[in-house]
Amino acid sequence: MRRKIVVGNWKMNKTVAESTELASAVVAALGSDCSACEAGIAPTYPALDSVGRTIKGGEVLLVAQNCHYEDDGAFTGEVSTGMLNALGCSYVIIGHSERRQYFGETDATVNLRIKKVLAAGMKAILCVGETLEERESGAFEAVVSTQVTGGLQGVVDISDIVIAYEPVWAIGTGRTASSEQAQEVHKIIRNKVAELYGAPAADAVRIQYGGSVKPSNAAELFAMPDIDGGLIGGAALKAEDFAAIVKAAC
Ligand code: PGA
Repeated sequence: MRRKIVVGNWKMNKTVAESTELASAVVAALGSDCSACEAGIAPTYPALDSVGRTIKGGEVLLVAQNCHYEDDGAFTGEVSTGMLNALGCSYVIIGHSERRQYFGETDATVNLRIKKVLAAGMKAILCVGETLEERESGAFEAVVSTQVTGGLQGVVDISDIVIAYEPVWAIGTGRTASSEQAQEVHKIIRNKVAELYGAPAADAVRIQYGGSVKPSNAAELFAMPDIDGGLIGGAALKAEDFAAIVKAAC
């Protein structure tokens, strides 16, 4: 039985003070109801420290939105896995479609980051997903399979990897993939993992869905056999909504 995992990706939203306030509200809204699944929040880099202190000792995990793949050095504007680890991050989101779309991430750079996160002793959330054009042309299976294979190139053990399927056309658009559409791709991803790592690893790997998940559609999505939780954007900025989504996974 896979333990579901729900992560709130706050993207480029909230000051440090606002982030701390939201983190406290999330903890309060969840109460002690979320131990059946994993829940995490991913604030901006400047807020990681104070949010980490706010949630310390509780069940909500600290998650980073990205990292660089070098240890340190002349990489202006970047943040290393060592820095994130020192702040108590459990997971790092890698290869979000916004990183791929706006910041030139490729499967190769995603792969470097994934390996770095694992080497630092943290877990990685590998994001994959097709654009609207790729969905409409029917290329989504090939696109997602290539992203999974490319992102995991040379990774021997995937027990610290979570995969997030996020169709680009459903992110922040209010247009959710139907639970059947999402399930279809989650199954494709699990089959790909089976091909690469064998059936037991495929059975164990958790695959989150992301893209306009809300309290009103979370339970239906999470009830699908291959959907193991969610990566939540907009709805994660409201403590009550995020808590309701986490509870739908528990
Ligand atoms: P959304 O974002 O929930 O606002 O669609 C999801 C994501 O980008 O992780």
